[in-house]
Amino acid sequence: MVDVNENPFDGTDAIFERKQPLKKDTFTPDTIFHRDEEIEFYINALQDVIVGHDPNNVFVYGPTGVGKTAVTKWVRDKLEEKAEAEDIPLTVVGPINCRNYRSAYALVNTLVNEFRDPENQLPESGYSTDSVFEFLYEEIEAVGGNVLIILDEIDNIPADARNDFLYELPRAEANENTPITDAKVGLIGISNDLKFVDVLEPKVKSTLGEREIKFGPYDATELRDILGYYADIAFREGVLGEDVVPLAAAFSAQERGDVRQGLRILEKAGEYARMEGADGVTEAHTRRATDTIETDELLDYFEHDLSSQQALTYLATTLALIEPKHEASTKRIYNLYSSIAESSGRRVKSERKIYEFLDQLSMQGLVRSAERNLGRKGGRKYIYEVTDDPTDIINAALQSSYSDAVPSNVNGILEHYLEDEATEFEAPDTTDDEQQNLWQFT
Ligand SMILES: Nc1ncnc2c1ncn2[C@@H]1O[C@H](COP(=O)(O)OP(=O)(O)OP(=O)(O)O)[C@@H](O)[C@H]1O
Ligand SMILES: [Mg+2]
Repeated sequence: MVDVNENPFDGTDAIFERKQPLKKDTFTPDTIFHRDEEIEFYINALQDVIVGHDPNNVFVYGPTGVGKTAVTKWVRDKLEEKAEAEDIPLTVVGPINCRNYRSAYALVNTLVNEFRDPENQLPESGYSTDSVFEFLYEEIEAVGGNVLIILDEIDNIPADARNDFLYELPRAEANENTPITDAKVGLIGISNDLKFVDVLEPKVKSTLGEREIKFGPYDATELRDILGYYADIAFREGVLGEDVVPLAAAFSAQERGDVRQGLRILEKAGEYARMEGADGVTEAHTRRATDTIETDELLDYFEHDLSSQQALTYLATTLALIEPKHEASTKRIYNLYSSIAESSGRRVKSERKIYEFLDQLSMQGLVRSAERNLGRKGGRKYIYEVTDDPTDIINAALQSSYSDAVPSNVNGILEHYLEDEATEFEAPDTTDDEQQNLWQFT
């Protein structure tokens, strides 16, 4: 019972020393681990600035949470430090995250204001897009020397800014239509959309991709070092069980090799420990954290990424997999799909459509299929499985707006499935009515 006369907030935190480093990218690490090669490429590409040649354009790409932004900031700081020591004129703007801008106008406006004094800032509207671009070129020319513009998440660049930024700006010095004659402009673009470069026109590709630096996922050992560094800062001394960081690292390495996910696990594990009033973070807290994070990510799929028909197909595939009596064939998935769609009052599409939905799910990496030869009978069929833990998928579905499509006895069947996974599969006794029902979704 909450004592109404007492304030329920607790003024002390036995677990966390500083939580901020675990949270979203608001913290700058003073060391960068395991990116020596990438840093070397980067330094190499920007070395020209220091020795007086024009800056190269650089394109940095790789999956999410693998240090692209962090390394870029680190290299930027070192470059500025060196330029200052050597008296080399250099102005760096960014990283500016393109995702925050809806139009070329908004993005250019921000850039112009980066160059301007606080009392001379451009208003949010009132000019044409062409004029703000003109202002930008004027600012660049006025500051002179080397000007590096860093655009983060450049795959999200507003469509009407694409050509100007990706093609015109990096060549501004050679372009007669801009007032730039002396300043040397370099563009650094960062993207986690690996297809982004593929869709660029060749002229843009060759300009932006002058130097490309690829960041790959981290492995478990690397993640251990990185997460260990953050854990040292974030947690109070001695509260972290010795398995916590290795577990978080192993889990993230298996998933995507993404630091951010590892940090989220550490934060969640710490929160579970704190909620329990425990005096330390244990392996159990960490396992619970990884489960929650999996479920949260899957919940995101159900709520945001999947259409309702894809979501039902995904759920039906999971049900087909855990159901002991049948194989998760397309036919069986379709039967389950129609039954859950119908019972939850949703539209039932044709069987042909299921192939399409399964293909889409497979493209998102949520399901996987294997071809099965039908032997002498001839022909082939596809057997499906889900790539995530069925327990997590069911949990996510239950928390989602599709909870009404989940059969009520799913947990019982799931339990049998998990037991069977652990032991030898035992076929249900199909002559026994009671058992029969036990194996059927209701
Ligand atoms: N090698 C590393 N050493 C120290 N910290 C790192 C390292 N790599 C990543 N981090 C930290 O991990 C978090 C995610 O890294 P970062 O933001 O650089 O990822 P990103 O590759 O830019 O991802 P996204 O594509 O999603 O923007 C940040 O807090 C960052 O400081
Ligand atoms: Mg980033």
